[in-house]
Amino acid sequence: MNGCFLVFEGPEGAGKSLQIGRLAERLSACGAPHTVTREPGGTAAAEAIRSVLLDRPELRLDGIAELLLFSASRRAHVEEVIRPALERGEVVLCDRFELSTRVYQGWARGVDAKTIERVTRAATGGLLPDLYLVLDVPVKVGLGRQWQDEDDPGQLAFFGPAPDRIELEKRSFRERVREGYRELAAEDERIVLVDGSGTPDEVEARILALLEERSPDRFAAANFPL
Ligand code: TYD
Repeated sequence: MNGCFLVFEGPEGAGKSLQIGRLAERLSACGAPHTVTREPGGTAAAEAIRSVLLDRPELRLDGIAELLLFSASRRAHVEEVIRPALERGEVVLCDRFELSTRVYQGWARGVDAKTIERVTRAATGGLLPDLYLVLDVPVKVGLGRQWQDEDDPGQLAFFGPAPDRIELEKRSFRERVREGYRELAAEDERIVLVDGSGTPDEVEARILALLEERSPDRFAAANFPL
């Protein structure tokens, strides 16, 4: 496989989808074939599993049940979308992948790392990204980007669609998620923390500089001034 597999990660409100969209536009502008996709989702089966996981806050799912469902969705996604795109030599820009499972189900919900590793390996056949870009923002900033008034819970107004089951978690859960990303980044060179604070242009410039440094052949052409 000679494509390049880039995964954007980070807490809710970090700005992943905005940055993925911007990078995709740059790749289009320089004629680089690419696929944009997201987890959980990306295929009909994966989208159906997504709605069980996220759209039904009344369902009781513990960490293991979540691990199995996210992994089932990942299986379909890897086989039907990611691997074929990499085999065609494309850049795959994916919103979340197995690092989300290690952070949300492992670090934050307490499922043990060995179990996650075994299930994940079965789902992905060992496929890993070339790079994880984790948009790191303080919990307050992420919440502030999602909610109008976090200091007055009576007045909360969510931007966009209704909050999903995982977004309804308490603030302490979000703190654990951030800590998980930072700890895992410290021990794995494929996981890079990108400062996600500041304006979208500032974050984009950091991402482009990092990609150009890591893989100039593939990304230098995408790093042009707008
Ligand atoms: P999504 O609506 O895609 O939001 P976001 O813009 O934050 O990515 O929701 C995905 C949610 O699912 C998010 O709260 C993280 C969670 N998640 C896990 O808990 N484990 C996983 O393996 C994945 C892929 C996502």
